[in-house]
Amino acid sequence: MCTEVDRFLYHMRLSDETLLDIMARFQAEMQKGLGKDTNPTASVKMLPTFVRAIPDGSENGEFLSLDLGGSKFRVLKVQVSEEGKRNVQMESQFYPTPNEIIRGNGIELFEYVADCLADFMNTKGLKHKRLPLGLTFSFPCRQTKLEEGVLLSWTKKFKARGVQDTDVVSCLTRAMKRHKDINVDTLALVNDTVGTMMTCAYDDPYCEVGVIIGTGTNACYMEDMSNIDLVEGDEGRMCINTEWGAFGDDGALEDIRTEFDRELDLGSLNPGKQLFEKMISGLYLGELVRLILLKMAKAGLLFGGEKSSALHTKGKIETRHVAAMEKYKEGLANTREILTDLGLEPSEADCIAVQHVCTIVSFRSANLCAAALAAILTRLRENKKLVRLRTTVGMDGTLYKIHPQYPKRLHKVVRRLVPNCDVRFLLSESGSAKGAAMVTAVASRVQAQRKQIDKVLALFRLTQEQLVGVQDKMRAELEYGLKRDTHSLATVKMLPTYVCGMPDGTEKGKFLALDLGGTNFRVLLVKIRSGRRSVRMYNKIFAIPLEIMQGTGEELFDHIVQCIADFLDYMGLKGAQLPLGFTFSFPCRQASIDKGTLIGWTKGFKATDCEGEDVVDMLREAIKRRNEFDLDIVAVVNDTVGTMMTCGYEDPNCEIGLIAGTGSNLCYMEEMRNIELVEGDEGKMCINTEWGGFGDNGCIDDIRTQYDKEVDEGSLNPGKQRYEKMTSGMYLGEIVRQILIDLTKQGLLFRGQISERLRTRGIFETKFLSQIESDRLALLQVRRILQQLGLDSTCEDSIVVKEVCGAVSRRAAQLCGAGLAAIVEKRREDQGLERLRITVGVDGTLYKLHPHFSRILQETVKELAPRCDVTFMLSEDGSGKGAALITAVAKRLQQAWKN
Ligand code: BG6
Ligand code: BG6
Ligand code: GLC
Ligand code: GLC
Repeated sequence: MCTEVDRFLYHMRLSDETLLDIMARFQAEMQKGLGKDTNPTASVKMLPTFVRAIPDGSENGEFLSLDLGGSKFRVLKVQVSEEGKRNVQMESQFYPTPNEIIRGNGIELFEYVADCLADFMNTKGLKHKRLPLGLTFSFPCRQTKLEEGVLLSWTKKFKARGVQDTDVVSCLTRAMKRHKDINVDTLALVNDTVGTMMTCAYDDPYCEVGVIIGTGTNACYMEDMSNIDLVEGDEGRMCINTEWGAFGDDGALEDIRTEFDRELDLGSLNPGKQLFEKMISGLYLGELVRLILLKMAKAGLLFGGEKSSALHTKGKIETRHVAAMEKYKEGLANTREILTDLGLEPSEADCIAVQHVCTIVSFRSANLCAAALAAILTRLRENKKLVRLRTTVGMDGTLYKIHPQYPKRLHKVVRRLVPNCDVRFLLSESGSAKGAAMVTAVASRVQAQRKQIDKVLALFRLTQEQLVGVQDKMRAELEYGLKRDTHSLATVKMLPTYVCGMPDGTEKGKFLALDLGGTNFRVLLVKIRSGRRSVRMYNKIFAIPLEIMQGTGEELFDHIVQCIADFLDYMGLKGAQLPLGFTFSFPCRQASIDKGTLIGWTKGFKATDCEGEDVVDMLREAIKRRNEFDLDIVAVVNDTVGTMMTCGYEDPNCEIGLIAGTGSNLCYMEEMRNIELVEGDEGKMCINTEWGGFGDNGCIDDIRTQYDKEVDEGSLNPGKQRYEKMTSGMYLGEIVRQILIDLTKQGLLFRGQISERLRTRGIFETKFLSQIESDRLALLQVRRILQQLGLDSTCEDSIVVKEVCGAVSRRAAQLCGAGLAAIVEKRREDQGLERLRITVGVDGTLYKLHPHFSRILQETVKELAPRCDVTFMLSEDGSGKGAALITAVAKRLQQAWKN
């Protein structure tokens, strides 16, 4: 009889050769599902779960858990105990899931789930307690984060309307809103395979695969991030929910499927779908047996050709019957009883044959599962580049649990298919909710950390009100600086520059220019041709070593003269006596265009014996000391002034010069009558505001953070240039570094480890800040930049670092905008204009390189000075050109005066 059954079901008996073939096909399917381009058409969806690590024992807290989608719906409370002890306590309650609920209206389904939860919380006295919840939802969901998942399709017995393609967490949250007395935060959505893997991994850290063989079948495993195209980042691993039940939905298993599989599929809730699952899982095994028995009876091979109406009825044979019939000792008796209950009159031979049918069907199920699992294990072994893999597979599902032979058959075949893997199969005793609680515990820790990070970032977010406050204070300080009585105490020094007009196009000649104080030190030769507004420039960049910037004044000026000599040599100009314009980007008190007393070094300079001295004299003396050439130093010019002039040469409406670079400063054309420090009321003069010193009297301390204070204290000029230290390139990176140190100390970054590199001052130069914040960069590239800086960061770290950079640079741009708004508004009011049209010449690496700084600056000005139309003009040629133009004008005046 058995041989007859064997012949009849020949197609269901799979040889090892066939299983190895199926295993290879599944390997290819996994690859397809993981690829970005191939995923859309892949039938095995390989869904990222955003679960990145197995439990490490540090999880703790009290959690709620829902377990929906298996044969039973459960609500649980899971208490994960204090660190180290690995103690989990669970209380749970089963609730029924009637067909009219799971196949009715989606909204009602989730309302029902929420009602059960509320009922549970009520009976357990958990109302009014705010608890995090982990939702085990055993259906395919596309996730982009842990707490969200779009249902791709219902499987198994569920088919509620209006849920497919929507986020199930939102559905649940919405339904829970109806219960005013419960306060639950869904932090994690996990598939049952994932819950199972996590449950088992809590006890066995080798566990990295979860398999369900229950109502449905599915598996998840830990995949290397570098192989997951659909998620950014490449370090570490992430759990992938394979949704292997859909294997074959594209026809890949047609040679394996039998007429019974096809018939079963046609009568299912989801024809054409989950074809692999339908050959394996509990929901379908009994039905497969029924269809086979019916066919055999029809063919006269069983029950003497008699059929009963029960045998004709869908669902009459269930998996529990199959399991009972295959029991070792009582199996035969069970079979007789079950068949009799179906209204049949089986002979002894019939019972043996039916038992054999059950064995073939359930053995095929175990074989197929084994083949797919073998593919996963091989993938794990290859990912780890191991010759032998030792691993644990977490198992759950009623078929696996109640079928007497299933587990050992499965284990045996797996071991035969992958002889180079030592596999332990670990049954999940407590279901997937325990694992879901572990995931939720991690999520709630991440959420708490996120709150801490947000708290820090919030310090850098300025309200409109605060910005207006800055604008008003800046305005007041400007006025103090201009007035004779208040000038000496003013923090914004408002230095007269003795530059009284814009270039008019008549300037001409050959000039030398120096440009000292920005990122680069340059020596230039500038040739101006009159009338045509055309300028030719030749320049060379020289380095100023740190020991010279912070050595003695003589050394600094000797070095400058050395560079001039090299340049003259290089240009073949030795001996030529040219007029020179000196762009010196530090605050100087001027009594004329060619005299400038350094008030104090700023930025990275600190050469001795210079403060209080005339920089033109110092340069002259250094030239004399060298005694090789002579130069006619005609003008000393701040870089803001040089920039305004460079731009003013093209656009006469340019009456403001702004630098947002290493330092931050602004100059503008002011009415002579407002400049009390200089005689005369006619016309205008350019004022170098030196606004970097704004706030040195504490007037903006309300918006300064502890990080600003730290940066200030570690700088060369503590207490000075407070506004500059919040707005310019030299300090933004330092603020970022201080924040990162603090976040690391709080354990929120870099695994809590403060590296030597992070302790190093100045690592975040403006250019790196600009790169990190570029929108074009993927997270991986940000991480690479950080790694180049010597910061070993994870992708999560990189996200935080980028956010920190963004908060700091945004505040800088806004503050700078508030300052500029104060100036343009003043100019508008002073001139009694309804609307002011003005151009600002801008230079500086921060403005030029940073991807967002200029935009935010401009937006802020627009908001704070709505009656001013401000045009921003980028200075392409640097301030050397402007310095040469000023020199040309000064030279002409000098000549006229001599004559
Ligand atoms: C349970 C898990 O133990 O097994 C569920 O807690 C899972 O999350 C179920 O869905 C799978 O088995 P079955 O047989 O109930 O579908
Ligand atoms: C340059 C100017 O283009 O920009 C310098 O020529 C100026 O005079 C500098 O100091 C400012 O930017 P940074 O970023 O180099 O300080
Ligand atoms: C079905 C679901 C899957 C689940 C499995 C086991 O295959 O699609 O998400 O894991 O059943 O419950
Ligand atoms: C610093 C200097 C200032 C200069 C600015 C931009 O603030 O004090 O003079 O203009 O940097 O370089």
